[in-house]
Amino acid sequence: MKIAQILSASALCLSLVACSQAPENKDAVIENKINALLNQMTLEEKLGQMNQISASANIEEMTVLIKKGEIGSILNEVEPRRINALQRVAMEESRLGIPLLFARDVIHGFKTIFPIPLGQAATFNPQVVKDGARVAAIEASAAGIRWTFAPMIDVSRDPRWGRIAESCGEDTYLNTVMGVAMIEGFQGDSLNSPNSIAACPKHFVGYGAAEGGVDYNSTYIPERRLRNVYLPPFEAAAKAGAATFMSSFNDNDGIPATGNSFILRDVLRGEWGFDGFVVSDWASTGEMLAHGFAADTKEVAMKAVNAGVDMEMVAYTYFKELPGLVKEGKVKEETIDEAVRDILRIKFRLGLFDNPYVEDNTAKMFYAPSHLEAAKQAAVESAILLKNQGEVLPLDASVKSVAVVGPMADAPYEQLGTWVFDGEKSHTVTPLAAIRDLVGNKVQVIYEPGLAYSRDKNKAGIAKAVAAASRADVVLAFVGEEAILSGEAHCLADLNLQGAQCELIAALAKTGKPLVTVVMAGRPLTIANEAELSDAVLYSFHPGTMGGPALADLLWGKAVPSGKTPVTFPKMVGQIPIYYAHNSTGRPAKHNEVLLNDIPLEAGQTSLGCTSYYLDAGFYPLYPFGYGLSYTTFKYSNVELSAKELKVGDVLTVTCDLENTGKRPGTEVVQLYVQDKVGSVTRPVKELKRFARISLKPGEKKKVSFDLPISDLAFWNIDMKKVVEPGDFSLWVAPDSQSGEETPFKVVR
Ligand code: BGC
Repeated sequence: MKIAQILSASALCLSLVACSQAPENKDAVIENKINALLNQMTLEEKLGQMNQISASANIEEMTVLIKKGEIGSILNEVEPRRINALQRVAMEESRLGIPLLFARDVIHGFKTIFPIPLGQAATFNPQVVKDGARVAAIEASAAGIRWTFAPMIDVSRDPRWGRIAESCGEDTYLNTVMGVAMIEGFQGDSLNSPNSIAACPKHFVGYGAAEGGVDYNSTYIPERRLRNVYLPPFEAAAKAGAATFMSSFNDNDGIPATGNSFILRDVLRGEWGFDGFVVSDWASTGEMLAHGFAADTKEVAMKAVNAGVDMEMVAYTYFKELPGLVKEGKVKEETIDEAVRDILRIKFRLGLFDNPYVEDNTAKMFYAPSHLEAAKQAAVESAILLKNQGEVLPLDASVKSVAVVGPMADAPYEQLGTWVFDGEKSHTVTPLAAIRDLVGNKVQVIYEPGLAYSRDKNKAGIAKAVAAASRADVVLAFVGEEAILSGEAHCLADLNLQGAQCELIAALAKTGKPLVTVVMAGRPLTIANEAELSDAVLYSFHPGTMGGPALADLLWGKAVPSGKTPVTFPKMVGQIPIYYAHNSTGRPAKHNEVLLNDIPLEAGQTSLGCTSYYLDAGFYPLYPFGYGLSYTTFKYSNVELSAKELKVGDVLTVTCDLENTGKRPGTEVVQLYVQDKVGSVTRPVKELKRFARISLKPGEKKKVSFDLPISDLAFWNIDMKKVVEPGDFSLWVAPDSQSGEETPFKVVR
C-alpha cells in the first residue's frame, strides 16, 4: 500500500471504537509450512528461534549453537562471507534447516549516510525519506542484512533526550507519515525481494517521553494521551505491513514495555491485527530485574513471553528459563508456538527459506552514484533557513572571498551523526571540500577552524579565525555538535553550543563581516544568542555523507532551502517541554504579558489576569514547529472550505492560493492545522493534519488543495472511545504552527 492509501485506510478506521482486526492477509501456503515445521520442532528448537544473539568474533562458537538450533537471529554480523558461512550451518547442519535472520541498526543509511532522521523529517517530503530507506535497504541487503531496527517513530518532545536525533520530531502526524515512508522504503514492493529488509518500528512505546529527557527514564503517559499522541505512528506502521516491532526500555506508569501485555497483545495484535513478531530491545527483558519488576530471570522470561515479546535480543533468559516455566505450566506451550509462528512467518515472507544466501553485491552497491545523489537531495531538503537578514544568502558573484571557520566545517566523521556503524568517513564530503570544489578559483576560500572540535574549549585558535574573517567578504561559520553528543544515552542538560563555540561566534560577529552560521547537530540547540549575532542561520542537523555538497549548493543558491523545523526550538532549556500541540489551558497566554524586567519593585501579589508563560522566556519558542524560510517569499490567500458545516462521514476540501512573491524559484511546505474547540476532554490548541511541498517559479501562483476526511478529527475521548465529537472547529493553512489566519467550521450530527 502507498503512504496515501495507508493514511486514508487508517482514517477510515477512525470512526470505529477501535480499529479491530486488519484485513486477514496471511498466506495459507506459508501458514501450512509453518505448521509442518512446528510439528517437528522440539521445545529447545522453538526457543532457539526466539533467541537473538550479538555476533561474536569467534565463528566456531556461533557454529556450535547454530548447529544445535539454539539461534534464530544474529545482529551485527555484516561480512557477507561470514554471513553465508553461518547461514550454511543453519541450512545444512542444523536438524530442521531453518534460516537465520541477520539484523543491523540501519538507521539513516548503511554505507551512504543520509541526514539523521530528525533532519529527514525536516524535509516534510515522504518521497525523499522513502528513497533514503530504499537506498539503505539496497546497500544493507547487498551485505546480507535482511532486518533493520528502524524506523524510530517515538514522538519526541524533549531535545535534551539524545535520541531525538533518531526520531521524526515532536509531531504525531509527521512521525506517522515519515514512519510509513521509511517502512515502504525498507521493505520495498515485496518483502521477499532479495533487496528488501524487514522494518522494525521502535520503541514500542512511549520511550520518547522519558522524564527530564534523560535516557531510559520512566514515562507517565496515561492511556488517552498514549492513544492520541504516541500510538498513531505505530498503528500506521502496523497497517503499512511492518514485519516486526521492538518493545521499548521504559516503564510507563510502572510497567516496563517489555512486560506490558496491554500494548503488546491487546493493542498491537488485538486491535491492530499485527501478525509479525516483537523483539525486545537490547537486553530489555533482563533489565526488568533492574526495574524491580521481576525478582529473577525466571520471572523475567515468564513476564516477557506472556506479555507478547516473541524474540529476545541478547539476554538469553528465554532459552534458559522457558523449559522449566513450560513444565510448571506458568507459560503455555501454545504461547511459545504463537511466538515461533510469528517469527517463522517473517522468515518465510522474506523468502529466506528459498534464498538464504547473499550474493556479495557490495562492490556495485555501496556508495553508488545514484545513492550519493539521493543522499545529497535529502540533505538539501533537510536544511532549514532560520534567519536571512539583509538577504545575505545566497552568496552571489560579488563575494570574492569567504572565510570558512568552525569545528564542523571539515569534520567528516561528525557530520554523519549518530547510529553510523558502517558508513565510512573517507566517503564523506565536508562543506570545506564541497565549497572549494564548487567555487574553484573564482572565490578565495580561507580556512581557519578556530576550534578543533565542538567541545574544544581552547580559545587559542579563535584569533586566527577572526583574522581570516577580517580578510574575507563573508564569514561561513560551521558549528554544532560532534556525532557522539546525540543518540542513545547521550542526553544533555545544557543545549548551548559546546566548548568555546559561543565565544567563536561572538568574536566573528565583532568583525562586522556578514556572518552566516551553519549548525550541524543532532537536536535543536539553544542558539538564540548566536542567531542574534548572525546575519543568516542555516540549520542542517547532521546531514550525512553528502552534507557538504548540499550545503555548498544552498549557500551559493544552486539550491533553495525548503526545510521546516520538525520540532520546536526552545529559547532556553527551562522552556522544555515546549511543543506546539499542547492542550488548551484555562489561562492561555495573551502575548502582551509582563516580562521579568517590567515588574515594579515590591509589586503586590495577584493572580488576576495571570496567564500561562515564563517571566524570563515569555511564551514563544525561539522557532516554532513547522518554521523555515526560503530565498523567496510566499503569500497565502483565499483560504476556502468546501463547506462550513460537515458531517462525520464527509470529506472537507480546503483550498488556498499560494504565490511566489519573490525573485527566485522556491518550494514551500504548506501546512494544514486544525483545532477542535470544545471536547469532552481538553484538546490541543492545534494539530497538524496535512502538509504539501509546493514548488513555484517567481510570480507563479497555485491553488493548493487538501482533502481532509472529517473522520481524521477523531480522538480518544472521555469514554476512551475514538470518535469525532461534533461542534466547533478551526483550521489554519499556514507556513508554520504559529501563523496563519483562523478559519472556523462546524461538524454536525
Ligand atoms: C537500542 C535500539 C537498538 C538496539 C540494537 C538498543 O540499545 O535502544 O534502538 O536497535 O540497541 O542495537
